[in-house]
Amino acid sequence: MQNTSILDEAWLRLAALAARPDAAAIRPLFAADPERARRFTASLDDLTIDLSKTSIDGEALVALLDLAHEAGVKEFRRRLFAGAAVNVTEGRAAMHMALRAPAGAGLRAVLPGGTDDASVLAAAERDRMRDFVGRVHDGTLRGATGERFDTVLNIGIGGSDLGPRMAAEALTLAHGAKLRARFLSNVDGHGFAALARELDPARTLVLVASKTFTTLETMENARAARAWVARALGEPAVAAHFAALSTNLAAVAAFGIEPARVFGFRDWVGGRFSLWSPVGLSVALAAGWDSFQAMLDGGWAMDQHFRDADFAANLPVLLALLEVWHSTVMGHRNRCVLAYDDRLRRFPAYLQQLEMESNGKSVTLDGRPVRRSTCPVVFGEPGTDAQHSFMQLVHQGPQVIPVDFLLAATPDHDRQAAHLALAANAFAQAEALLRGRTESEVRAEMAAADLPPAVIDAVAPHRVFAGDRPSTTILFRRLDAFTLGRLIALYEHKVAVLGAIWAINSFDQWGVELGKVLAGGILPELAEGAAPRPHDGSTVGLIARFKQLRGEA
Ligand code: F6P
Repeated sequence: MQNTSILDEAWLRLAALAARPDAAAIRPLFAADPERARRFTASLDDLTIDLSKTSIDGEALVALLDLAHEAGVKEFRRRLFAGAAVNVTEGRAAMHMALRAPAGAGLRAVLPGGTDDASVLAAAERDRMRDFVGRVHDGTLRGATGERFDTVLNIGIGGSDLGPRMAAEALTLAHGAKLRARFLSNVDGHGFAALARELDPARTLVLVASKTFTTLETMENARAARAWVARALGEPAVAAHFAALSTNLAAVAAFGIEPARVFGFRDWVGGRFSLWSPVGLSVALAAGWDSFQAMLDGGWAMDQHFRDADFAANLPVLLALLEVWHSTVMGHRNRCVLAYDDRLRRFPAYLQQLEMESNGKSVTLDGRPVRRSTCPVVFGEPGTDAQHSFMQLVHQGPQVIPVDFLLAATPDHDRQAAHLALAANAFAQAEALLRGRTESEVRAEMAAADLPPAVIDAVAPHRVFAGDRPSTTILFRRLDAFTLGRLIALYEHKVAVLGAIWAINSFDQWGVELGKVLAGGILPELAEGAAPRPHDGSTVGLIARFKQLRGEA
């Protein structure tokens, strides 16, 4: 429980720091402290986070660390690792760390009527997964016609899609895949139609990934895939081509997937934290078991760092405090993620669910409206592509958008020159955001290029960059599976720390419910001849027009 008055003081101290006339200035901080880059860089082995290109100074950092202390982050962290029901609205632990911990780690999850030996349960399921993956890879498990599988099709959405899709791509782009991985998430039938054109059902292994096994999109797509396999190979073939990843074993059985092909997990794994569970089976099938295990090891390394390190050197805590500074204190309502790595193409999409579904909340743990802003909007694309699209706005737009840059020092291809060009661009973007360009610099440059004064007067203001735009650079030796695991867990824990500071529940997602319920009501109304139901005028009009455009009266 947070002590509100002491906590308020901590927030007020931060507000006072943010109200200083030069609070947003970054360049003077470097001028005043030649050691700034070193002092505001933290690392875990090769994983290095440079926080110095932000407006946090020594005083602000102390105030933020005080805030973490007063907000009870230490106690939250203790309860998280103790498997307490930190997800208070659903009465569940958030024990995804057990999925990547060794069997003997002793992690437990508190349940309403007892506890789960979470690390033991997770390890047992991991053994079953490893065995399954091995048998698919060595050809013991084949399709119904006797052909070897060459494709794994993961059908799932949200946490049952974004994590595996991102990780499978990240771990196979450089070295190729053992099985090519395809992902079907949206209920839009165009996606499945395209896959059905591309894939051979005889060589496709379908994974139905759904924690609840009730999600409309996934169930619809799973039925379509089932019909596709049955049509091509006959109904008895279905069993050989399907497996399920779920907590809802009864619903899986009703769908007709045999128990030996069901990989389970428990309610103490939230959907957006389930990549490490059987939901990651597509990653293991595509990238190989050793890669999957290395990713888990990386996640566990970050868990131990988060659990044990002092806050002043704790990477997830520092990232969270920086977000508090930017988002809540300075009022920057967006954050941009630029991975200078094509393998992390899907990383921003993955983070969007992790961060915005977790912390896009307006009610505190005790049910009151939040008094301060919470999660910013997160968006991103790979660098350098982003430089040629939205970075104009990040450099010169009216709002300040802090950026996370991610970069590997060494690539997994042999075109070193290309990698150096990529890295130069990452460093240059961060430097440009910080440094900016003054009007007198622009004018001097234009004059040196012999441009007429009238042109200089007209164009110079457009070429000015304000500078002092904050960014964080996350640098690591290589993007191997271990580092990918560390990065994902870094952001997971950052999100949880933010939830603790904002006093919100990072582990529920009630905000997705209403739309699902309303869609269920609208669906029958869209059938030909169905009577309209009461809605607001806009929705009534749109449904009528939709039906008219479909050629119905
Ligand atoms: O969109 C809401 C949500 O519940 C996510 O939290 C979850 O990751 C996704 O739907 C998929 O849920 P399931 O794995 O149960 O199909």
